[in-house]
Amino acid sequence: MSVTQLRVSGAPSPAPRITADTLLKKKLSGHPITALTAYDYPSARLVDEAGIDMVLVGDSLGMVVLGYENTLPVTLEEMLHHTRAVARGLRHAFLVADMPFGSYHASASEAVTNAIRFVKDAGAQAVKIEGGSTRADLVRRLTEAEIPVVAHIGLTPQSVHSMGGYRVQGKTLDAMDRLSADARALEEAGAVAIVLEGIPRELAARITHESAVPTIGIGAGPDCDGQILVFHDLFNLTFSPSAKFTRQYADGAAFFSSAIQQYRDDVTQHNFPSDNESYHLSREVQAALDVSRPHARKA
Ligand code: KIV
Repeated sequence: MSVTQLRVSGAPSPAPRITADTLLKKKLSGHPITALTAYDYPSARLVDEAGIDMVLVGDSLGMVVLGYENTLPVTLEEMLHHTRAVARGLRHAFLVADMPFGSYHASASEAVTNAIRFVKDAGAQAVKIEGGSTRADLVRRLTEAEIPVVAHIGLTPQSVHSMGGYRVQGKTLDAMDRLSADARALEEAGAVAIVLEGIPRELAARITHESAVPTIGIGAGPDCDGQILVFHDLFNLTFSPSAKFTRQYADGAAFFSSAIQQYRDDVTQHNFPSDNESYHLSREVQAALDVSRPHARKA
């Protein structure tokens, strides 16, 4: 039966693909936007099938999947590779790919070329870049190239050295004004959404109120239009102390570790694999084998 026949016969048609416009409608109607990171096919399937609106292939990949100390070493090829895997697992969620450090800093034309790879080769619907007003021209260039851009301001991990560490941003009146101005400049340049990371709740609420495009918060309090978390933080899979703003929903480390230990014990105690978990010869082949090897049969 073809897909068309299935639909004609009354089966529910699949939920439509989420776009930047869907996110905007959610902001305007006051429905919270849900977002999570994913880095591979199984996590993408799980997140998509749970009905999360937006999936980010974050460059946090470098830390939680590749074991780097920070996000700076992540390469364009690594991000493309993981974005392709995630794209294969998604049906509905809006797929955003992080442009890694160095892939949009040298020149606008190189940035556009790299961003096109995320959309054309890897299946992303938008790219995310970090930084405030200084990125406004680039957001405009990418938008003119038909690439939706998610901006990211506040605590921007790719600026770890220039910020002098991972510090909450926007804590003074001046810094609040600067971040509000950044959000305005990025919105005017065409950003379809703005990630607000590591800023006081009050500032995030102000930017969300002032902004015509959705804000997605991480460590920015509950007043943003949506929330995003890193997949591995939800499941205690980071092997490091969790930040104040994360919430652990399940102990994935304990769950996986216990299964791995049971497997180890089953193998060492000859409990795995069982006969039922083994393939067998057909009766005919077994009989022929018994005839040709009578001694083996007796044994
Ligand atoms: O890389 C990432 O996962 C991110 C989110 C934390 C927003 O940028």
